[in-house]
Amino acid sequence: MTLEEGDTPLIPAPALSERSGCDVWLKFEGANPTGSFKDRGMTVAVSAALSDGARAVVCASTGNTAASAAAYAARAGLRGAVIVPEGKIATGKLAQALMHGARVVALRGNFDQALRIVRELAERHPVALVNSINELRIEGQKTAAFEVCDALGEAPDVLCIPVGNAGNVTSWWRGFSEYGVAPRLHGYQAEGAAPLVRGAPVERPETVASAIRIGNPARWEDAMAAVTSSRGEIRAVSDDEILAAYALLGESEGLFCEPASAASVAGLIRYGAEGRVVCVLTGHGLKDPTTAMSRATPVVPCEPELAAVEEAVLA
Ligand code: F0G
Repeated sequence: MTLEEGDTPLIPAPALSERSGCDVWLKFEGANPTGSFKDRGMTVAVSAALSDGARAVVCASTGNTAASAAAYAARAGLRGAVIVPEGKIATGKLAQALMHGARVVALRGNFDQALRIVRELAERHPVALVNSINELRIEGQKTAAFEVCDALGEAPDVLCIPVGNAGNVTSWWRGFSEYGVAPRLHGYQAEGAAPLVRGAPVERPETVASAIRIGNPARWEDAMAAVTSSRGEIRAVSDDEILAAYALLGESEGLFCEPASAASVAGLIRYGAEGRVVCVLTGHGLKDPTTAMSRATPVVPCEPELAAVEEAVLA
């Protein structure tokens, strides 16, 4: 069960390198089939669900897991059901889940409540739970670490990565460990949704980076163990810093990622690092046109005459 996920580009980042004084590279996970890193784990989890005879796959999601689960379920001929926090997932992700024919349930609650409920659902019914508490998701996602080491010919010194439910940072560490390398992991959470930084769950997480609006990560212990073993750190970045990094990536590096992904770059800019640094851009910017349009300069209206176009283009 595959959509030929993985093998995403690792792109040098000259503007960011100059700004940070590091040798910065961007792992563009938005180039996966559904536009996020989730596909790496979903190919494994849905393959297993199929061979185990599951009738349906379910997940709780801030959007990307839902889009990916829906796509792989459609491909596998399984029913897909995704539980998302009402009004809190990006438009593109919702469109994806719907176009892949999943049952999309808008929960009047947040991601943490949705995850608690689907766990119970999966205990009572013959459905495969494909959140990152599913071990096979972690197994699939670790391949990104192999690709980075293969592409660079060695491990980076530092990996900067956004952290939400904390599955992905766990996966990257597993990948590096199996590769026999140990870069420092720098994990970043949004200030309004930073339980790992505070050391306590956040009851009402809030951030513009809707993908990481999570107050009680399921992979809490694994993530902290990974960061500690790597001699790394987990820190918080503000929404303003996330949006500034989001704009800088678009305008200076030519890469459009979603706001949550820009947390990796916001963290590098705020806290710094040394040596060769890889920032993970976890999801594509096209997933969240609403945030993009609310940040962008307005389009320029123009009459259909050369003089007017000259004025509009060159002035
Ligand atoms: N970046 C993006 C774009 C994400 O969608 C997520 C998680 C993360 C980073 C954080 O990864 O949870 O493994 O620490 N999105 C999940 C979802 C929660 O439901 O799509 P994590």
